[in-house]
Amino acid sequence: MSKFRNLFLASAAIAVLAVNWQPAPSLAQQGNPAVHAAGPRKIGLGREAHPDEVKAWDTDVRPDGQGLPPGKGSVKDGDELYQTLCAACHGEFGQSAGRWPMVAGGQGSLKNEGPEKTVGSFWPYASTTFDYIKRAMPYGNARSLSDDEIYAITAYLLNMNDIVKDDFVLTQKNFTSIKMPNVDGFYDDDRETTEKHFWKNEPCMTNCKAEPPKVLSRARTLDVTPDTKTGPKVD
Ligand code: HEC
Repeated sequence: MSKFRNLFLASAAIAVLAVNWQPAPSLAQQGNPAVHAAGPRKIGLGREAHPDEVKAWDTDVRPDGQGLPPGKGSVKDGDELYQTLCAACHGEFGQSAGRWPMVAGGQGSLKNEGPEKTVGSFWPYASTTFDYIKRAMPYGNARSLSDDEIYAITAYLLNMNDIVKDDFVLTQKNFTSIKMPNVDGFYDDDRETTEKHFWKNEPCMTNCKAEPPKVLSRARTLDVTPDTKTGPKVD
């Protein structure tokens, strides 16, 4: 396409915008009760989302299986797909390659100083795995997998985490029979009751210091604030 044509298209687009665009009400207009009474002014932008558009975005899968598409996939097929599409980052056995996240292992490590949170050790529901892979993986090529491929890869991830056997076939029907090891590790925040003993006294919220505070030193004297003249040079 020639430069001239590009320019022409650009100016045509601006012309169309100029015809459709109406400025939002000014502050003065917004403050004017007459304008308010008439309700917000329509500026002719946007349209109702088409049902197919909503359907394309509405892909979430819930723990009770709601949202799962029809389909199935075996651990065996998932192994092949995973090695081709995922292992370069997540490691052949889900142990991670380089500094990419690990997706298997870590069971029993959550209370350690360095907990390893993976699909197997941390995630409470298998549905999150399906949902996540469907919307976000493979990294850089998201939404490229078919539903059967996602079933297979999810089955393989569960297998790497010792949750299903080698000959398992994951389907829409048997999906909710999967119990994740850490499902009971999630519960409602109960600190208000369980940690009540930490908070024996009512915290003081007003006039808490009897004496007014005294300034003992200043940041400038302590030399904590870089000074362009005498302090360290900031690039
Ligand atoms: C190019 C590298 C790359 C490839 C290939 C890749 N991933 Fe990922 N994956 C990532 C990164 C980066 C994250 C973390 C993304 C984030 O936290 O926003 C991630 C996160 C994940 C997670 C969540 C991990 C967690 O515990 O938070 C899962 C599950 C996962 N990927 C599965 C897959 C699967 C299955 C494939 C193959 C279909 C795949 N990934 C391919 C880079 C990759």
